[in-house]
Formats: sequence, C-alpha cells, structure tokens
Amino acid sequence: MAEPDLFSQIPTPHDRIRDLRIQLDRHNRLYYSQAEPEISDAEYDRLFRELESLEAKHPEFHDPNSPTLRVGGAPIDGFQQIRHAVPMLSIDDVFELSAEGVEKAKATCPEQELIDFYRRLQKNLKRDDVPVTIEPKIDGVAVSLLYRDGKLAYAATRGDGQTGDDVTHNVRTIRSIPLKLPAPHPSLLEVRGEIFMPNEAFAALNNERDEAGLPTFANPRNAAAGTLKQLDPKIVAKRPLAFLAHGLGAYEGPPLETEHQFHDLLETLGIPQNQPILNANHLGEVLDAVARINRERHALDYGTDGAVIKVLDRAEREQLGFTSRAPRWAAAYKFLPEQKETTLNNIIIQVGRTGVLTPVAELTPVLISGSTVSRATLHNQDEIDRKDIRLGATVLVEKAGEIIPAIVKVIRHAEGAVPYSLYDSVHGKCPSCGGPISQEEGFVAWRCTNFQCPAQAVTHIKHFASRKALDLEGLGEIVAEALVRHGHCQTPLDLFRLDEETLADLNLGTEESPRRFGEKNAAKVLAALEAAKSKPLHRWLYAMGIRQLGESAAKELSRLHRTLGEIPDSPILAELLRDTRPTAKKQNEFLAKYSITGDVGPAVAETIVTFFKSEAGQHALARFRELGIDPVSDNYLPITAEADGSALPLAGKTFVITGTLSIDRDAMKELIESKGGKVSGSVSAKTSYVLAGEGGGSKRDKAEKLGVPILDEATLASMIES
Ligand code: IVH
Repeated sequence: MAEPDLFSQIPTPHDRIRDLRIQLDRHNRLYYSQAEPEISDAEYDRLFRELESLEAKHPEFHDPNSPTLRVGGAPIDGFQQIRHAVPMLSIDDVFELSAEGVEKAKATCPEQELIDFYRRLQKNLKRDDVPVTIEPKIDGVAVSLLYRDGKLAYAATRGDGQTGDDVTHNVRTIRSIPLKLPAPHPSLLEVRGEIFMPNEAFAALNNERDEAGLPTFANPRNAAAGTLKQLDPKIVAKRPLAFLAHGLGAYEGPPLETEHQFHDLLETLGIPQNQPILNANHLGEVLDAVARINRERHALDYGTDGAVIKVLDRAEREQLGFTSRAPRWAAAYKFLPEQKETTLNNIIIQVGRTGVLTPVAELTPVLISGSTVSRATLHNQDEIDRKDIRLGATVLVEKAGEIIPAIVKVIRHAEGAVPYSLYDSVHGKCPSCGGPISQEEGFVAWRCTNFQCPAQAVTHIKHFASRKALDLEGLGEIVAEALVRHGHCQTPLDLFRLDEETLADLNLGTEESPRRFGEKNAAKVLAALEAAKSKPLHRWLYAMGIRQLGESAAKELSRLHRTLGEIPDSPILAELLRDTRPTAKKQNEFLAKYSITGDVGPAVAETIVTFFKSEAGQHALARFRELGIDPVSDNYLPITAEADGSALPLAGKTFVITGTLSIDRDAMKELIESKGGKVSGSVSAKTSYVLAGEGGGSKRDKAEKLGVPILDEATLASMIES
C-alpha cells in the first residue's frame, strides 16, 4: 500500500472553513457561557477574520449558522432565561496596526482600518462631516437593565444576543445601580452597559484569594464574569462590582434625537455612564480623540483595550442599519497591547514537573492592562541571549494577549551588568534538589538529572512504573499524583517503603468525593514492587528517567557493567570521557574494542558519570543499599566478538523488524540483542537485514530499494544456530 502523499494533508478551503467554525463556536461557548476563555481576544479575532475572509472568497460554503453570522454563545445553565426586548448586538472591531501590520498591509498608517470605517460612514451618509462620539471600550460583562415605570424589572446578560441569563438577584447588590428612578422617568427604559470589577478591587480580591489558598482570577473581566455567575447573591454583595452604561435598548418616553440627549437622560436619572465621551466631526478629530483615549485610558479604573466610535445622530444610525451581526454605525478600535517600562530585579529559576529549569524574571511591580505585573517568564537561556537580558536592566513589558506578562525588550542595561548565565546562577545545580543539571544535545533547556528530585516526583514515579521500566502494574498517573499529594512519596525509591494499609487507604479522589485505592489494588502494587527488585540492571537504569539514558543506552551500559554500583567508577565510561586521546583513530579503536555504538557517546557518558558521582547520585546509591536493592546486568559482555574472538552469532549486525511475527516485537528485539545484534527503527544503508513477518509494507519496499537483504524468522533462527 502506498504511503499517503503529503498533499492530501493540506486542508482545502472547505476543510478550513469547517474547522474554523467549530473552533470559534467552542471559544464562544468558553467565553460567553463558561467565562473560561482559553485564547486571547486577539487570537479569537484572528480566527474570526480568517473565517470571514474565507467565507467572502467562497460564498458557495455559506451557512446561516456560521459564527460570523451570530452574536455570541449560548446562555449558561442554572439561571432563568430572559428574551431581550431588542437584540443585544456586538460591534465590528477595527484594529490598530503594528509596524509589522502596516508593512504587510502596505498601508501608510496604523489607523488605516479606522480611516476605512469613517470613509464608509461618509460614503453611506453622502456627507463629509459625520459627527461621532468616541469613548473607551470597557472590558467587562455586557448586561441589559430594564426599568418599567421607573423600577428595575430585570437585569440580564447578553447570552447569545437574543436570550440571556437573568442575573437580577446579583445585579441588585451593585450599589451604583439604581433600583428606582426619580420622576419624571420614561415608562420603559432599557439601559445597556458593562459590569466590571475596578482594577484596584480586582488586585485586592486576588491577593485575598491567594493568601486563602484559593485560585486567583486571570483578569478583571474573568473576575466580574465569575462573580455574576454566582448563584448566591451574598457572595456577590461582598465583591466590588461596578456598572457603566453605554447604550439604549427598548425605550418608551420623550423622543431622544442624539446621543447627547440620551446621556443627559442618564445623568438626570442617576445611572452611571461611561466617561470620557469625546466628540468629533471630521476624520482628523476622530484620530485625535482615539489617540487621546489611548494616552489616558490607563488612568481609568477599569480595563480597556480599545475605543468605541459611534455615529451621534439617531436618525443617521437608522439610515445606516445593521449587517447580520453588528450595527454599521459603530466600531470598536482595538489598541495594541499596553507596554510599560520597569526594572528587572532578579531572575529566579523554577523547576518544572519534567525537570526543566525555567528562568522567571522578578520585576518592580507595574500595572499593565488592569493588573499588577511582578513576574514574567523568560522561557530559556536562548531567549535571554536573544534579548540580551541582564540583571538590573530597564525592560519593556507587555501582556501577551492582554494576559500573560512578557518582556518585549531591554531598554537599557544597568551599569556594569554582565550577560546572564542560567547555569552559573544556579552553580550548575538544580535549585530544587541540588542535583546535577545537563543540557540535552540539540535542546536549549537545562534539566535536572536527579531522579530523586522532589519537583519531578510525579513524572519520575510514573515513568519508574511504566511498562518498559519496572512495569509496576496498577501504579499509573493518578496513583502517582495521590502518593505525592498526600506526602507518601517524594522519589520513586520511596515506593519501597509503602505498606499495605497506607496504599489501601490512599485517596485518589478529592476531599469532597473521596475514592479509596483499596486492599486488592494495594496488594497488586506491593507484589509488583517486590518483583521489580530482581529486574535486570538495564530496566533500572532506564527507570531512573534520565533523559539521555533511553532504552538502548541503558542496555549498552548494562552490557558494559555487572551492577549498578560499578557505574560511578566505570573505567570504560571514564575512558569514553577522556578527550586526551591523541587521534580520532585511537578513539575509534577504543569504541570498536567494546563495540560501543552511538547510543552511549561522550555526552551521555558525561551525564551519567556526573550524576552518579554527584551528591544526589551518591545519595541515590546509598538508598539502594539501604533498601537492599542491587540491580544486576543480564547481558554483561564488555569485550566484543572482534576483540576476544568468541563471536555471538549476530554481533555487529543491525536489524529492522517489520510486519507480524510469531512473537511480539519487544520479545524479538530482546532475542536479537541477546545474540549480539542491534535493532533499529528505520531502514537505511547501514541496516544489515530486515526481518519481515506477515504484512510489512514500506520498510520492506525500502529494503528492496536499498538492496538490504530481507529475512524471515526461519532464516534468522538458522543464523542464530550456526
Ligand atoms: S456600544 C450595538 N460602548 O463591547 C452595540 N459597547 O464588542 C453597541 N462595550 O456589545 C455597543 N464598552 O458589550 C459600546 N463604551 C462602549 C462599550 C461597549 C464595552 C462592549 C459591549 C458591546 C461589545 C462589542
């Protein structure tokens, strides 16, 4: 059978449209119904625009349910539903273009999209001066307040634009929202606006939660949305929510001709409204007003990432009308992310679950896009080098996607500052356990190699128990997590101290809904641990989860050593490390003497020797002794066939296995290796034989192409006999 060709994997426009619609629907649900967005607004906008542009190019794939033709997501469960008197629409975004964007668009200025919007207004209204208002876009939760005969009848969220959640019980707790309007008042008034959590209140709330050990909110909008979703208004009353009006829905009362009359009405009724609201009559004034809002928005007590531009005259609004999802008379101008200067005071190193050392910048706290930033990830040494980040530097910080703090660049270095080295700053040791660290070939990240490192407990225990390691049946990720969480294990060797009672009582669930591991499972795990004690050395070496020490390297090491205890002082590894060997020829002779393959080169030898000689490694060996575990090699054969003349039948031969054989592949691999052969995953000119069973497609083809002999099991058996 032919391999699938590459081209069939490139999506067609139809595939992409379908995929984008699914993605956007999902993100809509996460954002509107669950208040748990997974992507930033900018990322969402990017997907949305890609879909819009594809749909414009391919009208044949029109779908009335496409997210581009809808307003939002479905309402959440648990609340009464309210049908909006007038649909709550969204507004079209226009974007400030970055220098890069301006370049790409071949436009002449960052405000190009805004200019286009205003030109459309001029064209549609057939006049040059179109009076508009410009105000900050509030980063909150859209709500509708309906007053009937001067009394708050209900408050509802936007929901899907047609129907929203009844949040009246929560909104009543917001003090700035009047429950009764002073007379004279319109008989029906539906006010639209945003509920938000003021920046300072947000910071204080997060502090409080942090100290109480509760999860913090990612940003003020999530905090406001999460609060409004509460079923208990008492909790809401304790949270400092605020409201600002910005629009009108249903209305019965004295006619309102302009936006200004609407603002005056709000003023007399005591309904808080968004400010500042700037006026502009020409394009130039619009651009000035937008720039002013961008300059001054940081002083506002709510988060904002844009300005809203609206046609002033209500009759003109009607004339302009709507597209399927938004009014033509309004646009939201999105600013590029806010950036601030601050000082990089320190770099701390965090150790992740897989042992990766991640540098994190500690900054003099600055308020960016509505929250205080005092830390930013620096990713790795390469990133630090690329940006030439040094201690004490003045740096420019922004929130990527308005959420994750990042250092954009260094503005100036502190006097006398030197380039930063992650390795030097931790003195070559893991900051969590003091174990040695190493950098894998081809990777930038430094990792802790200590398999007893507590920061990596779960990962290491999981790997230790995996099938190709010590095969501890019944001990998977959930059990490993629980053992670490409840303080029973910090390292894999702690497993050998567990007793049946502790294991049986282990709670795999939560405090509210506990789930006991149970006697039967406990007995199974203890039996597996007992059996592991006599497993061969190569499995133990692999089980330690040192990244450079994969299965093949572990087998190679166990071929060269009798026991685990021999490895730290191994003369063979020491030899491998010695770079004083005069010529490459001598080096090759040495490798050939022990028939050492690429699986254990100087880099791997270095990691292994460094680890076992280190304090952490010595400590691990001492623990092995304490536990009475002494893994022994089952394939010890330090001198090769060529060197001592007693050839194993498959020595020096490399096999590739394909198709279905009479025994499973791992077993076949073991058989070949026990007879001195090697097994590799892919066919190349260096392959000696391809062992082919039933089936076996592309590897067999490749062997034929390269002239590599193909064997069946019977032929292999006779090779081994001879
Ligand atoms: S006017 C027809 N003004 O942003 C909608 N909306 O992305 C006219 N928003 O649905 C809306 N601040 O919930 C307007 N100053 C402001 C706003 C604002 C935030 C929200 C609003 C709207 C959404 C559109």
